[in-house]
Amino acid sequence: MDTALTPSTVALVGIGRIGIMHARLLAHHDLVGRLVLADADSARASRAADELGCVSSTVDAVFDPSNPLGLDAIVIATATNTHSELLIRAAATGIPTYCEKPIALDLAEARAAQHALEAAGLPHHIGFQRRLDVGYTRAKQLLESGELGELRRVHALTADQYPPADQFIPGSGGIFVDANVHDFDILRWVTGREVVEVYSVGAARGSDAFAAANDVSEAVTVLTFDDGTLGTVHSSRYNGQGYEVRLDLMGTEGTANVGLDNKVPFRSTEDGVEFPPEAPWDDFIERFLPCYERELDHFLRNPVRGLPSICTAADAVEALRIALACKLSREQHRSVRLDEIL
Ligand SMILES: NC(=O)c1ccc[n+]([C@@H]2O[C@H](COP(=O)([O-])OP(=O)(O)OC[C@H]3O[C@@H](n4cnc5c(N)ncnc54)[C@H](O)[C@@H]3O)[C@@H](O)[C@H]2O)c1
Repeated sequence: MDTALTPSTVALVGIGRIGIMHARLLAHHDLVGRLVLADADSARASRAADELGCVSSTVDAVFDPSNPLGLDAIVIATATNTHSELLIRAAATGIPTYCEKPIALDLAEARAAQHALEAAGLPHHIGFQRRLDVGYTRAKQLLESGELGELRRVHALTADQYPPADQFIPGSGGIFVDANVHDFDILRWVTGREVVEVYSVGAARGSDAFAAANDVSEAVTVLTFDDGTLGTVHSSRYNGQGYEVRLDLMGTEGTANVGLDNKVPFRSTEDGVEFPPEAPWDDFIERFLPCYERELDHFLRNPVRGLPSICTAADAVEALRIALACKLSREQHRSVRLDEIL
């Protein structure tokens, strides 16, 4: 127990796939004194509250500017198409807010949320948990220390072992906005550079729900950064060997690899190579659980106490711009410069 800090009253809105994980982490966090759960599906919120021994409430009570629940913090883990509206409502309450990525599905909504948060001066955090990952942090430090020399190439990859439920796909924003947005955010954070141009291709394989939603299940993007660094970013919804998230940084003096751990879903064809020794990662929750824990802790110790967040709405808007450029590039079969996405 951290005796120097007062425990907070926290509302979590959205108790779906990731929301229930956040609820379990918050319920056991030293800095959470009281946890309130809310969901558009009120029965879902009540069931989770019963499981965790906390209370449930309505969504409207959480975002009521008179703060009838006495909240110190709000966590939003609802479907992506609700993030902008809920962030704008949160800004009107003045209660520090954490919101899952991506900030919105389109740029106008993302900017509206960013401006509302900034105009209200509201401490906030957007959930790009890789910024709290040990491997990505070390890669950033290696690059900043000069040990890798001058960065020339990067390769990032996000691949799910299993596709999401068909009903999740139409509201997800598509593979670039939903999945690769993590790669775009972490590439900006690790390299400190901005992407200036993208070229993306994709293929809708497997479930018909991808093509029906004008989405793809496989994608490859080529990136150019503002310092001339070149990059590739892959993604898949059908990576049969396991859940795979990696980043390779190639510099003139060395390389660094994030995610090349004992559970990376690889199979070597070389004689005598036993790597990796353990069963592959199953999904994002198994792979990133320690990061989600650190991220909530960061939120409770920093934005909730008026201190800066490691990932703001302004950052989330930039990651979304790259994702939207990729989407446009794939749809129009051409390279897209980021200054087209305004
Ligand atoms: N950071 C990560 O690694 C990560 C991983 C998975 C999902 N996410 C993000 O989390 C969000 C939720 O994803 P999910 O997979 O848990 O979705 P989900 O569909 O499983 O759950 C969404 C929940 O939000 C509720 N909801 C929808 N609209 C609402 C509203 N207006 N008010 C209150 N509740 C509402 C739904 O009833 C549901 O319980 C998405 O934005 C997704 O991109 C982030």
